[in-house]
Amino acid sequence: MMELGGGLGLALGLAVAAYLLLNWWRHRFSGLPPGPAPWPFLGNILGVDVVDLLKSLKELSLKYGPVYTFHLGSRPCVVIAGYQALKESLIDRAEEFGGRGEFPAVQMWSHGDGIVYGKGERWKQLRRFAIATLKNFGMGKRSLEERIREEAQHLCEEFQKTEGAPFDPTFFLSCAGSNIISSLVFGDRFAYDDPKFLELMALINSNWRIMSSFWGQLLFIFPKIMGFLPGPHHQIFRNYLKLEAFVNNRVAQNRSTLDPAHPRDYIDCFLIKMEQEKNNPQSHFNSQTLSKTAVNLFFAGTETVSSTLRYGLLILLKHPDVEAQLHKEIDEVIGPSRPPSMEDRVKMPYMDAVIHEIQRFTDIVPMSVPHTVTRATTFRGYHLPKDLNIIPLLCTAHFDHTQFKDPEKFDPAHFLDKEGKFKKNEAFLAFSAGKRLCLGEGLALTELFIFLTSLLQRFSLSLDGSRDALDLSPESQGLGSLPRPYKLRLLPH
Ligand code: HEM
Repeated sequence: MMELGGGLGLALGLAVAAYLLLNWWRHRFSGLPPGPAPWPFLGNILGVDVVDLLKSLKELSLKYGPVYTFHLGSRPCVVIAGYQALKESLIDRAEEFGGRGEFPAVQMWSHGDGIVYGKGERWKQLRRFAIATLKNFGMGKRSLEERIREEAQHLCEEFQKTEGAPFDPTFFLSCAGSNIISSLVFGDRFAYDDPKFLELMALINSNWRIMSSFWGQLLFIFPKIMGFLPGPHHQIFRNYLKLEAFVNNRVAQNRSTLDPAHPRDYIDCFLIKMEQEKNNPQSHFNSQTLSKTAVNLFFAGTETVSSTLRYGLLILLKHPDVEAQLHKEIDEVIGPSRPPSMEDRVKMPYMDAVIHEIQRFTDIVPMSVPHTVTRATTFRGYHLPKDLNIIPLLCTAHFDHTQFKDPEKFDPAHFLDKEGKFKKNEAFLAFSAGKRLCLGEGLALTELFIFLTSLLQRFSLSLDGSRDALDLSPESQGLGSLPRPYKLRLLPH
């Protein structure tokens, strides 16, 4: 009996060893870039910090180089790090590296119907339409700037009510960012105390937080297993459904009052397009893609801008010398009462540099959203099969010593030349690059400039506690990078 048991044990051991050897062999000679050998089912997850996957991915790039293979569970992915490799892939080979990779938390809801998680011809049509429509409603034009200026006034009025008492700016900044995209998509802004708006903000904020948390990482790595395990990650799907229900409600309102000669917002334009294309079997304009793209724009346009501003104010609290220099520039170029305009930006290189440096230093979307290669391709001598997942570590361009003098330090001089003029840096990839470049880049830059300038024109930032105790490292990182909670005081400037 003992002999039988020993024989079985030996056979089992040999089978496991053979399996592992085969696995290693397949990995070693797959033609993919080098990387840690994966375990069956678990991939490379045993050797990394699941709470801070990004940190582990950055460390692995130091060991295996700027292009390496990493297995998320059983899915192989190629990780791309450092400015040079990111440029060669996302920019020089934009077509091949412009596919959208798996982000299971959202795909479960979107089924590829939106822009952010869309692919192929459907994505192309929807992206092109969104860009053109947002332009029609003022993206890059004075009319939108005017709306942002108005929103900045509302924001300042809300801030004024704090009367110098310490407060957490998160909620107000989210409302301001969200109202700009609201006015484009829904044709109107919301009052900051409108209960519907508050619910909407809470849903977006909750999803951004979960996706940027430990649970979001686990879901990214083990989508199938996590589907069966309890946890807050299930909320992501439910929140998306609620956001979509809200949009569908607005769509019904728009439909009943639509005047095709006078479209009021993105939803009206989409409804008109659906009607125009109703007999075209190739058309991708339907009720599903309408609600998914509207939610995409709303989600992508809200937390990104407001988190950047929130992180930016925290950094200015830590660096009062930078704040003082900004006040000086605003006083000289705009003065105390005239609202800022985008024409001022060329005369305000320091503000421009500070905003870029805030975006570089904070890395609000550090790993981008996963990409894929759209066809089999050879890259740096490696064979990458069609649909292989690509993780572009955008943050590594921002901390690349070959591109920035002292990347670990917050220093607006990274974007200034010797004469103090604004200096572009090609390694600035906060909005990513190539075919998937953020379609809200122009809008976001206008918002950041007008909001920050308006705030500092009216207020000086002050802090209750010790400046040394302020911690600029993120609270958590995943899809997004979140600053630690803090309170500030706003005093009249
Ligand atoms: C500071 C603000 C923002 C940052 C840092 C940011 C960053 C990004 C990044 C890194 C991506 C992923 C690109 C890729 O896949 O490689 C992205 C995609 C996207 N962003 Fe933004 N974004 C910002 C603001 C906005 C705004 C205001 C909008 C709304 C109009 C927006 C709409 C989108 C959309 C729709 C996509 C998906 C593009 C596609 O897959 O084709 N973003 N953004």
